[in-house]
Amino acid sequence: MALYSEKVMDHFRNPRNLGVIEDADGIGEVGNTKCGDIMKMYLKIENDIIVDVKFETFGCASAIASSSMATELIKGKPISEALTLTNQAVAEALDGLPAHKLHCSVLAEEAIKSALVDYYEKNGIAYDKELFAKKAVCCHE
Ligand code: FES
Repeated sequence: MALYSEKVMDHFRNPRNLGVIEDADGIGEVGNTKCGDIMKMYLKIENDIIVDVKFETFGCASAIASSSMATELIKGKPISEALTLTNQAVAEALDGLPAHKLHCSVLAEEAIKSALVDYYEKNGIAYDKELFAKKAVCCHE
């Protein structure tokens, strides 16, 4: 079996929503200390709906595919739904990641949460810090 699914290869070669939102309402940047990869997520939010999302990822193929898929999964969705997106759901939507690459999808979950925290803080919106304290589940952490 190939190491990567066709979906991973597709999102790696043709990433969706790649780029920057200049007037983003929330920006999140997270890094993986082990591999040094970095993911940055930009959100445009109107009436609690994520109307646009873009990303920049300096990382491996799995991290790029995970960010691309994650943006597809939250675009046009309410914040409440984006908050429930797990790295496992991102990996499943990609038809799986190799076990030793599952940690790459963690960056996507954390980047979205980090961008939402930025949005809340910029707008003085109270939020449940507990929701953001939970670490994404990863086989390697
Ligand atoms: Fe660093 Fe994939 S190896 S995020």
